[in-house]
Amino acid sequence: MKDEKYEKIPNWKSDFPIERKEATHVSRREFAKYLGLLSGALAIGNGGIVIKSLYFPAEELKGEHYVCNQSDVPVGEMFQFSIEGSEIIPYILIHLEENEWRAYEQKCTHLACAVRYRADLDKIECPCHKGYFNPRTGDVLQGPPPRPLPQLEVVLKENQVFVKAKEPNKIV
Ligand code: FES
Repeated sequence: MKDEKYEKIPNWKSDFPIERKEATHVSRREFAKYLGLLSGALAIGNGGIVIKSLYFPAEELKGEHYVCNQSDVPVGEMFQFSIEGSEIIPYILIHLEENEWRAYEQKCTHLACAVRYRADLDKIECPCHKGYFNPRTGDVLQGPPPRPLPQLEVVLKENQVFVKAKEPNKIV
């Protein structure tokens, strides 16, 4: 014979009358609601990025800025740097050939992932969605990026490398 004391339903169960099976079940409606909320949040986030880049463009760089010594970056290598006063924008300096240098913003024009120079491919690669850019012009070669990488002009002085804002339509 069973002891009645153990068959009695505990108080907490009557306060929370949910069976374990029901607790882990997610209905189709709940799942669709979750997906809808998630998609909405992503759309708002992307819209914010687009509005920010259209209406609040980055301030134009003024003057020349020292980056490094030429001997710090061998041919085929990339050097990551930031400019004092605008540290939120990362840049890359690429030493393509002897006396051939390029500098770009490091943020991919698709969704702002950090791009990197791949000497083995002779391309700038965005690893997030396999976007590729021409390392000589910054133009998009392949993948989802909608625009070329913003470019800086490289100025060489003795053994030093400087960058400055690129004049519109000037081919470096
Ligand atoms: S963020 Fe660069 S390709 Fe998507």
